[in-house]
Amino acid sequence: MSVVSKGLEGIVAAETRLGEVNGAEGILFYCGYDINELAGKVSYEEVVHLLFYNRLPNQAELDKLTMALRAERELPQGVIDFLKSAPKNARPIDVMRTAVSMLGCYDMKRHDVEVGENLATAIRLVSQIGVVAAYFHRARQGLELPEVRKDLSEAAHFLYLMSGEVPSKEAEQTLDVAYVLHAEHGFNASTFTARVVASTLSDMYSAISAGIGALKGPLHGGANEGVIHMLQEIGSLENVDAWVEDALAQKKKIMGIGHRVYKVLDPRAPHLCEMAIKLTSQLGEAKWIQMSERIAEIMRERKGLNANVDFYSATVYYSLDIPTDLFTPIFAIARMSGWTAHVLEQWSENRLFRPLSEYVGRPYGQKVVPIAKR
Ligand SMILES: CC(C)(COP(=O)(O)OP(=O)(O)OC[C@H]1O[C@@H](n2cnc3c(N)ncnc32)[C@H](O)[C@@H]1OP(=O)(O)O)[C@@H](O)C(=O)NCCC(=O)NCCS
Repeated sequence: MSVVSKGLEGIVAAETRLGEVNGAEGILFYCGYDINELAGKVSYEEVVHLLFYNRLPNQAELDKLTMALRAERELPQGVIDFLKSAPKNARPIDVMRTAVSMLGCYDMKRHDVEVGENLATAIRLVSQIGVVAAYFHRARQGLELPEVRKDLSEAAHFLYLMSGEVPSKEAEQTLDVAYVLHAEHGFNASTFTARVVASTLSDMYSAISAGIGALKGPLHGGANEGVIHMLQEIGSLENVDAWVEDALAQKKKIMGIGHRVYKVLDPRAPHLCEMAIKLTSQLGEAKWIQMSERIAEIMRERKGLNANVDFYSATVYYSLDIPTDLFTPIFAIARMSGWTAHVLEQWSENRLFRPLSEYVGRPYGQKVVPIAKR
């Protein structure tokens, strides 16, 4: 009998040069760089270069990639029409998944993995995904869709399209660091999903649409939305202890807590926590971070579990005035670089993913009884 690893825990499914999650020590590397070395020192665009080309760019290389990204911002009219006509109460992450799939219908030449257009497709997706999310958010409110601009960074451009106003430097930098922290994370569920799809030699758009579907779940990227819902439900610092005790008694999962790989603190969490403390105190809404810190403390004491990336990012986005149902789409915007880099890596050394399963069903040799006699 073969050994079954439920949830593929502990299984090494392939090699990668992109990200390494050291769960025992709580260290995350992108192409050999510790996330603590990158966060706050390099822009998201530099990280995109790092993931696509396996090294940080010099200024000329960064300028070239930045121009390539900004040149791709315009969406096909058919996709804009879809964003305008999608149900206003649809979940933005569902609209995003569908729009990525649609983008593939406007880009037929890039479906053939032999064409060598895959890096161009990756750049296009990194560039367009934020436009998709912001345009849908505008359209569902019945607002005009601002023309895309070429003079703003990825983070600033997203905030600009959302609000119609160029954001403050501080807001831009906050989102930029959040993008850096979310860009890559090894074989997490959505990246693995994208690589599985790519391994069949399907196309980039199909791989990414599937990845977005995986990200959406509350056990993965959907957790950041769950965190804000939880904080709103708890309401005040005084209610935290009783609420958490009750949730644990009911064996509920506390969103933003726990991780499959990290057995110590997720190294991204302190960066986001620091940003959340600063932003909430500026807004005079320190209670959100105080509640979060108390929840994290109880979970450490009671279950030995730590906060993960989603726990504090929720408060950061909330403080940037971003609606809750755009939190997971923002995760997708940032992770687009990691997903597409993984798809490119998969194709560079492809082998079809095809694991086995352990059969535990009815005994073998069942006989078909005619339908009238069943
Ligand atoms: C991330 C996650 C899916 C990892 O799951 P996993 O590795 O399969 O771990 P399990 O679900 O088997 O949990 C192991 C134990 O810790 C507990 N646990 C794990 N995360 C928990 C949480 N967030 N709240 C309460 N208990 C939790 C489980 O109940 C289980 O306890 P038990 O052994 O007493 O039954 C899980 O921690 C979780 O659901 N977290 C909340 C969602 C979230 O924040 N996801 C984003 C991840 S970046």
